Amino acid sequence: MREYKTAVVGATGAVGQEMIKILEERDFPIKEIKLLASKRSAGKRLKFKGREVIVEELTPDSFKDVEITLFSIGAEISKKFAPIAVKAKTVVVDNSSAWRMDPKVPLVIPEVNPRAVEKHKGIIANPNCSTIQLVVVLKPLHDAAKIKRVVVSTYQSVSGWGREAMEQLHQETVNQLASWPVSQSKTGKPVNRKTGKRVLPYQIAFNVIPQIDDFIGSGYTKEEMKMVNETRKIMEDDSIQITATCVRVPVYIGHSEAINIETERKLTAEEAREILSKTPGVVVIDDPKESKYPIPIDAAGKDETFVGRIREDESIPNGLNLWVVSDNLRKGAALNTIEIAELLIEKNLL
Ligand SMILES: NC(=O)c1ccc[n+]([C@@H]2O[C@H](COP(=O)([O-])OP(=O)(O)OC[C@H]3O[C@@H](n4cnc5c(N)ncnc54)[C@H](OP(=O)(O)O)[C@@H]3O)[C@@H](O)[C@H]2O)c1
Repeated sequence: MREYKTAVVGATGAVGQEMIKILEERDFPIKEIKLLASKRSAGKRLKFKGREVIVEELTPDSFKDVEITLFSIGAEISKKFAPIAVKAKTVVVDNSSAWRMDPKVPLVIPEVNPRAVEKHKGIIANPNCSTIQLVVVLKPLHDAAKIKRVVVSTYQSVSGWGREAMEQLHQETVNQLASWPVSQSKTGKPVNRKTGKRVLPYQIAFNVIPQIDDFIGSGYTKEEMKMVNETRKIMEDDSIQITATCVRVPVYIGHSEAINIETERKLTAEEAREILSKTPGVVVIDDPKESKYPIPIDAAGKDETFVGRIREDESIPNGLNLWVVSDNLRKGAALNTIEIAELLIEKNLL
């Protein structure tokens, strides 16, 4: 099998670290690996397949002879460097929000819309983590009964906001536990070493925050609108009505979503369970009598999207409620990115 010179941009981050693990686990055909990050990390040593690889600073010259680059950095840096990479003839799979809604850029979940990659012009976008686990479950139900409307509320882990947000949860928890009895107004010390401020807008330990990313004029957040717009783009159906509320919870890894759907044709809970249990990448855990349902602590480290609490919405004729959990760093980011890269190889598109 042909092997590829591969680069990971943002290799020291929460998603980048997971990418390195998954490239190893899946034995992705790598001829040579380049690990790139900011100047701060240049010279750090990371392990890949038992060997030490020295992290290099990302510069415009980083992409010489690289055939595929997996980007896992902020949108602004991606906007600057992805076109430079494409010019240097490397195919980019990007995790940030920079390119997702660009009509020339395919937005891909391999088990949902694999053919979209065929139109790529150098950049393929990986959807938002909360969108991926939503769409993996919605698509087979849409194919079976045509979804008219979706109401989704998320319970998103701190790792969805990167490594520093995980540090914030850790540090605030330590601070709170050290100061028993605590008062609810105590919010712990700021923890971001670089700015001296919190990464998340409020204390997250022993708290929930109904804001993910910035607010836009309508009262929604960017994260909520990503779920709406990206879902329609991937499902290639602008008629689906979607509304989202995104909430940060004090969980390290694993996003959860309470999803309510209304379909054109009646879908019983039994039928939905049957369809989802046959869907690749989806695992149904749904046994209320035994208190069995997906929880993030079990989903962390796993590749699948887990669904449970499947029940008919008794307030409307054709409604269903579901509870969906997945590892946001894996299927929500690193795994989906690598699956896109594998799809490119399979389709001879590299
Ligand atoms: N976390 C998730 O669940 C998730 C899911 C889907 C998509 N995403 C997206 O994936 C991207 C990365 O997220 P993350 O959670 O891994 O963030 P993170 O933990 O904060 O990591 C950011 C990475 O970017 C690097 N970086 C920062 N500034 C840089 C610069 N000027 N030049 C080169 N590299 C730079 C950092 O390197 P240093 O270590 O040197 O600072 C680090 O490797 C974001 O666009 C995010 O929105 C994340």
